[in-house]
Amino acid sequence: MKIAPLAAIVAASTALASLASPAHAQGTVNVYCSVQVEWCTAIATEFQKATGVRVAITQKGSGETIAQMKAEAQNPKGDVWFGGTGDPHLQAAEENLTEPYKSPKLAELHPWAVKQSNDSSGKTVGIYAGALGFGLNTELLAKKNVPLPACWADLLKPNLKGEIQMANPNSSGTAYVAIATLVQVMGENQAFDFLKKMHVNVNAYTRSGTAPMKAVARGETAVSISFVHDGVTEALAGFPVKTATPCEGTGYEIGSMSIIKGARNLANARKFYDWALTPAAQQLGAQAKQFQVPSNKATPVPDNAPKLTSMKLIDYDFAKYGKSAERRRLIARWDAEVGGLPKQ
Ligand code: F6P
Repeated sequence: MKIAPLAAIVAASTALASLASPAHAQGTVNVYCSVQVEWCTAIATEFQKATGVRVAITQKGSGETIAQMKAEAQNPKGDVWFGGTGDPHLQAAEENLTEPYKSPKLAELHPWAVKQSNDSSGKTVGIYAGALGFGLNTELLAKKNVPLPACWADLLKPNLKGEIQMANPNSSGTAYVAIATLVQVMGENQAFDFLKKMHVNVNAYTRSGTAPMKAVARGETAVSISFVHDGVTEALAGFPVKTATPCEGTGYEIGSMSIIKGARNLANARKFYDWALTPAAQQLGAQAKQFQVPSNKATPVPDNAPKLTSMKLIDYDFAKYGKSAERRRLIARWDAEVGGLPKQ
Protein backbone atom coordinates (compact mmCIF):
# COMPACT_ATOMS: atom_id res chain seq x y z
CA MET A 1 0.00 0.00 0.00
CA LYS A 2 1.32 3.41 -0.91
CA ILE A 3 0.25 5.34 2.16
CA ALA A 4 3.32 6.03 4.27
CA PRO A 5 3.00 4.28 7.59
CA LEU A 6 2.32 6.84 10.31
CA ALA A 7 5.57 5.90 12.00
CA ALA A 8 7.51 6.77 8.83
CA ILE A 9 5.76 10.12 8.52
CA VAL A 10 6.39 10.87 12.18
CA ALA A 11 10.03 9.83 11.80
CA ALA A 12 10.41 11.99 8.68
CA SER A 13 8.84 15.01 10.36
CA THR A 14 11.00 14.53 13.43
CA ALA A 15 14.08 14.35 11.24
CA LEU A 16 12.96 17.47 9.41
CA ALA A 17 12.10 19.23 12.65
CA SER A 18 15.61 18.59 13.92
CA LEU A 19 16.90 20.72 11.05
CA ALA A 20 14.45 23.39 12.07
CA SER A 21 16.72 26.29 12.95
CA PRO A 22 17.96 27.28 9.47
CA ALA A 23 14.69 26.10 7.93
CA HIS A 24 12.59 28.06 10.33
CA ALA A 25 13.72 31.35 8.86
CA GLN A 26 12.67 30.19 5.40
CA GLY A 27 9.27 28.86 6.48
CA THR A 28 7.41 25.78 5.40
CA VAL A 29 5.76 24.17 2.41
CA ASN A 30 3.05 21.51 2.78
CA VAL A 31 3.24 19.02 -0.06
CA TYR A 32 0.51 16.53 -0.92
CA CYS A 33 2.49 13.80 -2.60
CA SER A 34 0.95 11.13 -4.87
CA VAL A 35 4.08 9.26 -5.95
CA GLN A 36 5.60 6.43 -3.93
CA VAL A 37 6.85 7.27 -0.46
CA GLU A 38 10.57 6.82 -1.28
CA TRP A 39 10.37 9.61 -3.86
CA CYS A 40 8.25 11.84 -1.57
CA THR A 41 10.85 11.50 1.17
CA ALA A 42 13.69 12.29 -1.24
CA ILE A 43 12.07 15.51 -2.49
CA ALA A 44 11.36 16.62 1.07
CA THR A 45 14.96 16.09 2.15
CA GLU A 46 16.60 17.57 -0.94
CA PHE A 47 14.34 20.63 -1.26
CA GLN A 48 14.93 21.42 2.38
CA LYS A 49 18.69 21.04 1.88
CA ALA A 50 18.67 23.25 -1.19
CA THR A 51 16.49 26.05 0.17
CA GLY A 52 16.16 25.78 3.94
CA VAL A 53 12.38 25.55 3.55
CA ARG A 54 10.83 22.94 5.83
CA VAL A 55 8.76 20.37 3.90
CA ALA A 56 5.78 18.55 5.41
CA ILE A 57 4.67 15.60 3.27
CA THR A 58 1.24 13.96 3.20
CA GLN A 59 1.30 10.94 0.92
CA LYS A 60 -1.95 9.73 -0.69
CA GLY A 61 -3.24 8.45 -4.03
CA SER A 62 -4.54 10.81 -6.70
CA GLY A 63 -8.26 10.27 -6.08
CA GLU A 64 -7.83 10.52 -2.33
CA THR A 65 -5.84 13.74 -2.65
CA ILE A 66 -8.42 15.55 -4.76
CA ALA A 67 -11.11 14.42 -2.28
CA GLN A 68 -9.04 15.87 0.56
CA MET A 69 -8.50 19.14 -1.33
CA LYS A 70 -12.26 19.44 -1.90
CA ALA A 71 -12.97 18.79 1.76
CA GLU A 72 -10.41 21.46 2.76
CA ALA A 73 -11.34 24.01 0.07
CA GLN A 74 -12.66 26.56 2.60
CA ASN A 75 -9.58 26.17 4.76
CA PRO A 76 -6.71 24.81 2.62
CA LYS A 77 -3.98 22.98 4.48
CA GLY A 78 -1.79 21.93 1.54
CA ASP A 79 0.34 24.20 -0.65
CA VAL A 80 1.48 21.96 -3.53
CA TRP A 81 0.14 18.72 -4.96
CA PHE A 82 3.13 16.80 -6.36
CA GLY A 83 2.56 13.80 -8.64
CA GLY A 84 -0.35 11.53 -9.27
CA THR A 85 -2.11 10.99 -12.57
CA GLY A 86 -2.96 14.03 -14.68
CA ASP A 87 -6.74 13.61 -15.01
CA PRO A 88 -7.60 14.54 -11.40
CA HIS A 89 -5.15 17.49 -11.58
CA LEU A 90 -7.17 18.74 -14.57
CA GLN A 91 -10.37 18.14 -12.65
CA ALA A 92 -8.96 20.12 -9.69
CA ALA A 93 -8.13 22.98 -12.09
CA GLU A 94 -11.65 23.03 -13.47
CA GLU A 95 -13.16 22.90 -9.98
CA ASN A 96 -11.07 25.88 -8.92
CA LEU A 97 -9.11 23.93 -6.32
CA THR A 98 -5.75 25.01 -7.76
CA GLU A 99 -3.94 28.24 -8.68
CA PRO A 100 -2.49 29.21 -12.07
CA TYR A 101 1.28 29.60 -12.10
CA LYS A 102 3.58 30.16 -15.06
CA SER A 103 6.95 28.80 -14.02
CA PRO A 104 10.05 30.12 -15.79
CA LYS A 105 10.92 26.41 -16.19
CA LEU A 106 7.97 25.75 -18.55
CA ALA A 107 10.14 26.44 -21.60
CA GLU A 108 12.44 23.55 -20.64
CA LEU A 109 9.68 20.92 -20.67
CA HIS A 110 8.54 18.37 -23.24
CA PRO A 111 5.43 19.42 -25.21
CA TRP A 112 3.27 16.78 -23.45
CA ALA A 113 4.05 18.41 -20.11
CA VAL A 114 3.33 21.93 -21.38
CA LYS A 115 0.05 20.75 -22.95
CA GLN A 116 -1.14 19.80 -19.47
CA SER A 117 -0.54 23.44 -18.47
CA ASN A 118 -2.28 24.76 -21.59
CA ASP A 119 -5.29 22.45 -21.04
CA SER A 120 -5.74 23.87 -17.52
CA SER A 121 -5.12 27.62 -18.10
CA GLY A 122 -1.79 27.21 -16.32
CA LYS A 123 -3.13 25.47 -13.22
CA THR A 124 -1.18 22.23 -13.58
CA VAL A 125 1.92 20.96 -15.35
CA GLY A 126 3.35 17.60 -16.37
CA ILE A 127 6.24 16.29 -14.27
CA TYR A 128 6.53 12.76 -15.69
CA ALA A 129 4.89 10.29 -18.07
CA GLY A 130 4.32 6.55 -17.85
CA ALA A 131 2.35 3.88 -19.69
CA LEU A 132 -0.36 1.58 -18.39
CA GLY A 133 -0.04 -2.18 -18.77
CA PHE A 134 0.11 -5.45 -16.89
CA GLY A 135 2.26 -6.61 -13.99
CA LEU A 136 2.93 -10.34 -14.28
CA ASN A 137 4.30 -12.79 -11.72
CA THR A 138 6.15 -15.13 -14.05
CA GLU A 139 6.60 -17.89 -11.45
CA LEU A 140 2.94 -18.00 -10.49
CA LEU A 141 1.78 -17.96 -14.11
CA ALA A 142 4.24 -20.73 -15.02
CA LYS A 143 3.06 -22.82 -12.05
CA LYS A 144 -0.53 -22.43 -13.20
CA ASN A 145 0.52 -23.10 -16.78
CA VAL A 146 -1.00 -19.82 -17.95
CA PRO A 147 0.75 -18.02 -20.84
CA LEU A 148 1.74 -14.42 -20.06
CA PRO A 149 -1.22 -12.19 -20.96
CA ALA A 150 -0.35 -9.88 -23.85
CA CYS A 151 -3.70 -8.32 -24.73
CA TRP A 152 -6.68 -6.86 -22.86
CA ALA A 153 -8.70 -9.79 -24.26
CA ASP A 154 -6.46 -12.26 -22.39
CA LEU A 155 -7.69 -10.86 -19.07
CA LEU A 156 -11.14 -12.39 -19.69
CA LYS A 157 -9.87 -15.96 -20.00
CA PRO A 158 -11.17 -18.47 -17.43
CA ASN A 159 -7.60 -19.53 -16.59
CA LEU A 160 -7.17 -16.15 -14.83
CA LYS A 161 -10.18 -16.56 -12.53
CA GLY A 162 -9.38 -14.81 -9.25
CA GLU A 163 -5.87 -13.95 -10.45
CA ILE A 164 -6.16 -10.27 -11.42
CA GLN A 165 -5.86 -7.22 -9.20
CA MET A 166 -6.55 -3.60 -10.06
CA ALA A 167 -7.15 -0.49 -7.96
CA ASN A 168 -10.45 1.24 -7.20
CA PRO A 169 -10.92 4.35 -9.38
CA ASN A 170 -12.48 6.32 -6.50
CA SER A 171 -9.13 6.46 -4.70
CA SER A 172 -6.64 5.63 -7.45
CA GLY A 173 -5.70 7.65 -10.50
CA THR A 174 -4.16 4.53 -12.04
CA ALA A 175 -7.50 2.73 -12.04
CA TYR A 176 -9.22 5.73 -13.61
CA VAL A 177 -6.58 5.78 -16.38
CA ALA A 178 -7.36 2.07 -16.93
CA ILE A 179 -11.09 2.71 -17.32
CA ALA A 180 -10.60 5.77 -19.55
CA THR A 181 -8.11 3.77 -21.63
CA LEU A 182 -10.55 0.90 -22.16
CA VAL A 183 -13.28 3.38 -23.13
CA GLN A 184 -10.94 4.93 -25.70
CA VAL A 185 -9.71 1.56 -27.03
CA MET A 186 -13.10 -0.22 -27.23
CA GLY A 187 -15.91 2.34 -26.98
CA GLU A 188 -17.73 3.00 -23.72
CA ASN A 189 -20.39 0.27 -23.63
CA GLN A 190 -17.92 -2.38 -24.79
CA ALA A 191 -15.43 -1.20 -22.16
CA PHE A 192 -18.01 -1.62 -19.38
CA ASP A 193 -18.97 -5.06 -20.75
CA PHE A 194 -15.29 -5.93 -20.61
CA LEU A 195 -14.91 -4.65 -17.02
CA LYS A 196 -18.02 -6.61 -15.92
CA LYS A 197 -16.68 -9.80 -17.49
CA MET A 198 -13.22 -9.24 -16.01
CA HIS A 199 -14.79 -8.75 -12.56
CA VAL A 200 -14.98 -12.54 -12.02
CA ASN A 201 -11.23 -12.74 -12.57
CA VAL A 202 -10.48 -9.88 -10.15
CA ASN A 203 -9.61 -10.82 -6.56
CA ALA A 204 -9.48 -7.24 -5.16
CA TYR A 205 -9.87 -3.57 -6.07
CA THR A 206 -7.24 -1.89 -3.92
CA ARG A 207 -7.18 1.66 -2.56
CA SER A 208 -3.72 2.51 -3.88
CA GLY A 209 -2.74 2.30 -7.55
CA THR A 210 0.62 0.69 -6.80
CA ALA A 211 -0.73 -1.99 -4.42
CA PRO A 212 -1.65 -4.47 -7.21
CA MET A 213 1.92 -4.44 -8.59
CA LYS A 214 3.29 -4.99 -5.08
CA ALA A 215 0.86 -7.91 -4.70
CA VAL A 216 2.19 -9.36 -7.97
CA ALA A 217 5.74 -9.04 -6.63
CA ARG A 218 4.84 -10.85 -3.40
CA GLY A 219 3.04 -13.63 -5.33
CA GLU A 220 -0.38 -12.71 -3.90
CA THR A 221 -1.86 -12.30 -7.37
CA ALA A 222 -0.60 -13.38 -10.78
CA VAL A 223 -1.60 -10.29 -12.78
CA SER A 224 -2.15 -6.59 -12.10
CA ILE A 225 -3.33 -3.63 -14.13
CA SER A 226 -0.64 -1.09 -13.32
CA PHE A 227 1.75 1.47 -14.69
CA VAL A 228 4.58 -0.54 -16.15
CA HIS A 229 7.31 1.64 -14.56
CA ASP A 230 6.12 0.34 -11.18
CA GLY A 231 6.93 -3.20 -12.39
CA VAL A 232 10.53 -2.19 -13.12
CA THR A 233 10.93 -1.17 -9.46
CA GLU A 234 9.76 -4.61 -8.29
CA ALA A 235 11.82 -6.55 -10.85
CA LEU A 236 14.97 -4.64 -9.82
CA ALA A 237 14.21 -5.53 -6.21
CA GLY A 238 14.55 -9.18 -7.25
CA PHE A 239 10.91 -10.24 -7.59
CA PRO A 240 9.82 -12.49 -10.51
CA VAL A 241 7.95 -9.66 -12.21
CA LYS A 242 7.59 -8.89 -15.90
CA THR A 243 5.40 -6.28 -17.53
CA ALA A 244 3.51 -6.12 -20.82
CA THR A 245 1.57 -3.44 -22.63
CA PRO A 246 -1.66 -4.66 -24.23
CA CYS A 247 -1.63 -5.52 -27.94
CA GLU A 248 -4.86 -3.61 -28.67
CA GLY A 249 -3.24 -0.37 -27.46
CA THR A 250 -2.82 1.26 -24.10
CA GLY A 251 -3.12 4.60 -22.34
CA TYR A 252 -0.62 6.56 -20.33
CA GLU A 253 -0.47 9.15 -17.60
CA ILE A 254 1.03 12.59 -17.49
CA GLY A 255 1.90 12.72 -13.82
CA SER A 256 1.27 16.32 -12.77
CA MET A 257 1.88 19.02 -10.19
CA SER A 258 -0.40 21.88 -9.07
CA ILE A 259 -0.39 24.70 -6.55
CA ILE A 260 -3.37 24.48 -4.20
CA LYS A 261 -5.77 27.43 -4.23
CA GLY A 262 -5.46 29.55 -1.11
CA ALA A 263 -2.00 28.05 -0.33
CA ARG A 264 -0.86 29.65 2.91
CA ASN A 265 2.78 29.40 1.84
CA LEU A 266 2.39 30.61 -1.72
CA ALA A 267 5.93 31.95 -2.22
CA ASN A 268 7.43 28.66 -1.00
CA ALA A 269 4.92 26.69 -3.09
CA ARG A 270 6.19 28.50 -6.20
CA LYS A 271 9.80 27.98 -5.14
CA PHE A 272 9.12 24.24 -4.71
CA TYR A 273 7.29 24.09 -8.07
CA ASP A 274 10.19 25.73 -9.97
CA TRP A 275 12.68 23.45 -8.21
CA ALA A 276 10.62 20.31 -8.95
CA LEU A 277 10.85 21.07 -12.67
CA THR A 278 14.67 21.17 -12.69
CA PRO A 279 16.76 18.19 -13.88
CA ALA A 280 18.45 18.00 -10.46
CA ALA A 281 15.11 17.51 -8.69
CA GLN A 282 13.66 15.23 -11.37
CA GLN A 283 16.62 12.85 -11.12
CA LEU A 284 15.54 12.07 -7.56
CA GLY A 285 12.80 9.88 -9.08
CA ALA A 286 15.26 7.42 -10.60
CA GLN A 287 17.42 7.62 -7.46
CA ALA A 288 14.36 6.51 -5.50
CA LYS A 289 13.95 3.67 -8.05
CA GLN A 290 10.93 5.21 -9.75
CA PHE A 291 11.18 4.93 -13.50
CA GLN A 292 8.74 7.35 -15.09
CA VAL A 293 9.89 9.52 -18.03
CA PRO A 294 10.80 12.98 -16.60
CA SER A 295 9.26 16.11 -18.13
CA ASN A 296 12.31 18.38 -18.30
CA LYS A 297 14.03 17.75 -21.65
CA ALA A 298 17.42 17.97 -19.94
CA THR A 299 16.65 15.36 -17.26
CA PRO A 300 18.25 12.07 -18.32
CA VAL A 301 15.63 9.40 -19.01
CA PRO A 302 16.51 6.55 -16.64
CA ASP A 303 17.93 3.54 -18.52
CA ASN A 304 15.34 1.35 -16.84
CA ALA A 305 12.35 3.49 -17.82
CA PRO A 306 9.99 1.54 -20.10
CA LYS A 307 10.37 2.82 -23.68
CA LEU A 308 7.14 4.60 -24.53
CA THR A 309 8.10 4.72 -28.22
CA SER A 310 8.11 0.91 -28.44
CA MET A 311 4.50 0.58 -27.24
CA LYS A 312 1.17 0.87 -28.99
CA LEU A 313 0.06 4.02 -27.16
CA ILE A 314 -3.36 5.51 -27.82
CA ASP A 315 -3.79 9.23 -28.34
CA TYR A 316 -5.21 9.58 -24.81
CA ASP A 317 -7.62 12.51 -24.73
CA PHE A 318 -6.48 14.20 -21.51
CA ALA A 319 -8.69 17.25 -21.95
CA LYS A 320 -11.83 15.07 -22.25
CA TYR A 321 -11.05 12.46 -19.57
CA GLY A 322 -9.73 15.13 -17.20
CA LYS A 323 -13.09 16.94 -17.29
CA SER A 324 -14.73 16.97 -13.92
CA ALA A 325 -18.13 15.75 -15.14
CA GLU A 326 -16.62 12.99 -17.30
CA ARG A 327 -14.40 11.67 -14.53
CA ARG A 328 -17.24 11.67 -12.02
CA ARG A 329 -19.63 10.05 -14.51
CA LEU A 330 -17.27 7.20 -15.46
CA ILE A 331 -16.38 6.46 -11.83
CA ALA A 332 -20.07 6.47 -10.84
CA ARG A 333 -20.82 4.10 -13.73
CA TRP A 334 -18.01 1.79 -12.58
CA ASP A 335 -19.36 1.87 -8.99
CA ALA A 336 -22.88 1.07 -10.17
CA GLU A 337 -22.09 -1.54 -12.83
CA VAL A 338 -18.81 -3.17 -11.81
CA GLY A 339 -17.38 -2.43 -8.34
CA GLY A 340 -20.39 -3.64 -6.41
CA LEU A 341 -21.15 -6.72 -8.53
CA PRO A 342 -21.16 -10.05 -6.70
CA LYS A 343 -18.61 -12.61 -7.91
CA GLN A 344 -20.17 -15.57 -9.72
O1 F6P B 1 4.08 6.52 -7.87
C1 F6P B 1 3.77 5.52 -8.77
C2 F6P B 1 2.54 5.85 -9.55
O2 F6P B 1 2.26 4.76 -10.38
C3 F6P B 1 2.64 7.13 -10.37
O3 F6P B 1 3.28 6.95 -11.60
C4 F6P B 1 1.21 7.53 -10.48
O4 F6P B 1 1.04 8.87 -10.86
C5 F6P B 1 0.70 7.22 -9.10
O5 F6P B 1 1.43 6.07 -8.66
C6 F6P B 1 -0.78 6.96 -9.06
O6 F6P B 1 -1.17 6.50 -7.82
P1 F6P B 1 -2.70 6.20 -7.52
O7 F6P B 1 -3.21 5.27 -8.57
O8 F6P B 1 -2.70 5.58 -6.17
O9 F6P B 1 -3.43 7.50 -7.57
